[in-house]
Amino acid sequence: MSWNSQLPAAAGHEWPELMPGWVWLAGAGPGDPGLVTLHTWSALQQADVIVHDALVDTRILQWARGDASIEFVGKRAGQPSPTQATVSQLLVRLARENRRVLRLKGGDPFVFGRGGEEAQDLLRAGVPFRVLPGVTAGIAGLAYAGIAVTHRDTNHAVTFLTGHDRSGDVPTGIDWPAVARSSPVIVLYMALRHLREIRQHLIAAGRPSDEPVSIICRATLADQRIIETTLGSMGDASIHDATMAPAVVCVGEVVRLPSMPEWTPVS
Ligand SMILES: C[S@@+](CC[C@H](N)C(=O)[O-])C[C@H]1O[C@@H](n2cnc3c(N)ncnc32)[C@H](O)[C@@H]1O
Repeated sequence: MSWNSQLPAAAGHEWPELMPGWVWLAGAGPGDPGLVTLHTWSALQQADVIVHDALVDTRILQWARGDASIEFVGKRAGQPSPTQATVSQLLVRLARENRRVLRLKGGDPFVFGRGGEEAQDLLRAGVPFRVLPGVTAGIAGLAYAGIAVTHRDTNHAVTFLTGHDRSGDVPTGIDWPAVARSSPVIVLYMALRHLREIRQHLIAAGRPSDEPVSIICRATLADQRIIETTLGSMGDASIHDATMAPAVVCVGEVVRLPSMPEWTPVS
């Protein structure tokens, strides 16, 4: 059976073919396999080799060809994760071996996922590639918790922030007063270890300490957990519990809107 025979046909639309020597840099979504896009699904059907991170839900690898090789490049317990340079070199080598390479990343590859760096490395090496966007945790995770990332009653803007930079600290380049003033909803990625510091920045910049906060842990997975708190308490208690990771944090009145039922993940 050919790779595209199971993909839905649409008049005037052709599914792209993953060619030997190419890398497809694809998003795998936040966890629920149902959030994988058709492009990523088709890439799984076609790839000779799949290079994936720790946040990729491994159940979706069952959709890969039986003879595809799987390379894990995430962090293993007790060991540092491979450097970005090592991962990029691996992608370049596999492409030069004329393999069909699928680089799978959690969520969307260009949202706090170093996909941009890998794309630039491929460009520099002259390796042909394309990017397949994915469903990002900071939007889908909120939706699965019943939170609309924008709502006309609460916000006309949203800011996505990472809780840490290359060094592991809260990024120094964030203009907290500007964020606090202009963005009624703030969605934090990779922030669990720095919630107290971030709350200090936001409160010092004028956000009220009773502003509602939702922490959505393991969003879209069967053990999804939602912790409701306030900005002034964000970072207290068991918030540093490693079992909560990964988590996205939503700060803003949008959290309080009672409009949506929480989605109960079944996967
Ligand atoms: C390296 S970033 C990758 C983000 C990813 N590229 C995306 O678009 O969702 C990892 C962070 O994404 C968030 N994240 C990813 N998957 C998640 C999930 N299933 N539930 C909650 N947060 C998640 C967490 O904030 C985690 O620390």
